[in-house]
Amino acid sequence: MNETRDVLALAERLARAAGAIQRERYETGVRIRTKSAPIDLVTEVDHACEALIVESLATQRPGDAVLAEEGSGEDRPGAAWRWIIDPLDGTTNYAHGYPRFCVSIGVEHEGVREIGVVYDPLLDELYTATRGAGAFLNGRRLRVSQEDDLGRALVATGFAYDVRHNPDDNLDHFASFVKNARAVRRDGSAALDLCYVAAGRFDGFWELQLHPWDVAAGFLIVEEAGGRVSDRSGGPPPPSGRDTVASNGKIHSAMLALLRG
Ligand code: IPD
Ligand code: CA
Ligand code: CA
Repeated sequence: MNETRDVLALAERLARAAGAIQRERYETGVRIRTKSAPIDLVTEVDHACEALIVESLATQRPGDAVLAEEGSGEDRPGAAWRWIIDPLDGTTNYAHGYPRFCVSIGVEHEGVREIGVVYDPLLDELYTATRGAGAFLNGRRLRVSQEDDLGRALVATGFAYDVRHNPDDNLDHFASFVKNARAVRRDGSAALDLCYVAAGRFDGFWELQLHPWDVAAGFLIVEEAGGRVSDRSGGPPPPSGRDTVASNGKIHSAMLALLRG
């Protein structure tokens, strides 16, 4: 469908443009504020990236619905296309000068995930997927890894900003994976973690309290690279991101078994 191609091209342009802002202002002493908790940060770059994307969409696709993390998107019930945007995924990393962050843009058509674009501006890596047409990294086709033994798997996870207070803090699962996988990473950008599963760099990823903008692009990129995404019971993953397991498929049931404890 031509419109899908146009939407993908626009998502790619917007992700690259927001990524350019991140790259230019990286380690330049950007202003930082806290949001829901003392460890939940937002920088002026999160807002600048969101403004660029949301304002461009308002001009170029005024009928589309937009859900953007920092709240400037407009929900249009009944719109055929819906953009789900994390303008800067990995804000804590960005604020500390740790070079792992990205822009994530997922687009649904009639409620179905249709397009995913994630851009890592420092590595200049653009991950893209269109439903049914595969996943790509800078135009090269992506495939998940072939590892079928959790004991040889490199997996990743993350922790929510309420980790200091919420008893469902993922630390028990973290401990089990440290004991059972080859190694576990906590690298601070869920959207990139999902892309790394798609690229075969990680064999699996799980996280419990994500948000729609963290996963909207990454779920499709993993699926289109031949991987599997689910909730902890093995059912379809909630689009809210609140219960997310992603893998190459081959270690999925071993991951679910560990997560069931
Ligand atoms: C966060 C990152 C992090 C994950 C958190 C997310 P943000 O997103 O993806 O890896 O562990 O749960 O909230 O705040 O940097 O956009
Ligand atoms: Ca995020
Ligand atoms: Ca963010």
